[in-house]
Amino acid sequence: MSQFETPLFTGLLEHIKKNPIQFHIPGHKKGAGMDPHFRDFIGENALAIDLINIGPLDDLHQPKGMIKRAQDLAAEAFGADYTFFSVQGTSGAIMTMVMSVAGPGDKIIVPRNVHKSVMSAIVFSGATPIFIHPEIDKELGISHGITPEAVEKALIQHPDAKGVLVINPTYFGIAGDLKKIVEIAHSYNVPVLVDEAHGVHIHFHEKLPLSAMQAGADMAATSVHKLGGSMTQSSILNVREGLVSAKRVQAILSMLTTTSTSYLLLASLDVARKRLATEGRELAEKAIQLAEKARKEINEIKYLYCVGEEILGTKATYDYDPTKLIISVKELGLTGYDVEKWLRENYNIEVELSDLYNILCIITPGDTEKETNTLVNALRHLSEQFSHQAAEGVKPKVLLPDIPVLALTPRDAFYSETEVVPFEKSAGRIIAEFIMVYPPGIPIFIPGEIITQENLEYIKKNLEVGLPVQGPEDDTLKTLRVIKEHKVK
Ligand SMILES: Cc1ncc(COP(=O)(O)O)c(C=O)c1O
Repeated sequence: MSQFETPLFTGLLEHIKKNPIQFHIPGHKKGAGMDPHFRDFIGENALAIDLINIGPLDDLHQPKGMIKRAQDLAAEAFGADYTFFSVQGTSGAIMTMVMSVAGPGDKIIVPRNVHKSVMSAIVFSGATPIFIHPEIDKELGISHGITPEAVEKALIQHPDAKGVLVINPTYFGIAGDLKKIVEIAHSYNVPVLVDEAHGVHIHFHEKLPLSAMQAGADMAATSVHKLGGSMTQSSILNVREGLVSAKRVQAILSMLTTTSTSYLLLASLDVARKRLATEGRELAEKAIQLAEKARKEINEIKYLYCVGEEILGTKATYDYDPTKLIISVKELGLTGYDVEKWLRENYNIEVELSDLYNILCIITPGDTEKETNTLVNALRHLSEQFSHQAAEGVKPKVLLPDIPVLALTPRDAFYSETEVVPFEKSAGRIIAEFIMVYPPGIPIFIPGEIITQENLEYIKKNLEVGLPVQGPEDDTLKTLRVIKEHKVK
């Protein structure tokens, strides 16, 4: 089969051309039984392929036909032995990776700045996380990846670990030396699991960091929906056989997946793979050029700094993805969130994320100079408008969460007897819930960690400026759920 073929999308088109009389779900039956306003908006075509796993359409849980052919083509395109499609986002693929290598009591080496899906999988599986501290960028107030040295150290201390998880590249597009990390982990016979949520495109252009499969990793959860042109929620899990079993991966992915898999999402994965495999390099080149031009122009604006290749050279900043525009706004005396709101209100621009010190804008093949020029002009205006308060000469202090001590495994903490205490009085207690700012969704606390005053201050600062702090049952954050302390009578 050729990469120009789309067996799944084409199979669906052939099926609907026959216009079968449907006595199966979805009950909207090609849109006929649906709210007309929504139907007209979505369009007949989308509704016609909103189907489920009836005989002719294969089954994601046990693919043998058109889904299998589409997955095989994806495996070829990504240099994997097997590719599994996920309709549960990259979160589902990440949970599958973790749960297919680690069970109750098993150790898994993970950076502390992982996405919440890694920690959810650790709670579900009962595995014990061995945390590696990511390298912190004190200027930008963000964390990068992990170093080969840190992985080696963790493996010397825990040679019985069942896996090493690496985020490559990070949300901000920074990559570590993944190839070296893989070599080290493999010398211990330990598989490497890559959170490649922000790197679907990197496989297709030599200027971009090495992809997980190129670096020899064993599994990679790769968000096709984020930067590869498929629909939101659709993702893939690439597998190299050897240290992990593709059959076990399929079984676990299936356990975590709805039985009503969306063919709209699946077909969008099939066509996105075709485009990446046949035009990915050109498309990535265009995005790189566009982003480089914008980066240069942003760096000419007073008080703004858009990160470029000068960030490289530390052990955790081995390579980077220039299509990510990390724009530091702290010199303007504004938070990233202030700038996010200002851009929304004044220019109808929506950024990918903001934090206390930065905004992140992503440039993809979907952009043109029209959009990047609007962004650059808006940032010029921003800089002029706030130059009076710019922190010239004064270096704003960057606040970062510390990494708390883990007193209980996340699973034990999650299922322990708990009680609710006031937020302000919670320092020193063991937390039983997650707290994070989303995006990026990296937990400030995970169940089992000892609450620190520093991190409470960090949460307060995020709340103060209006950033979305999520996780606790009490979403006002007046109280936190902690492990119950049994007083001696
Ligand atoms: C680093 C990282 N990993 C995993 C995910 C989860 O991806 P998804 O939203 O497709 O479940 C995200 C989402 O933001 C992420 O930033």
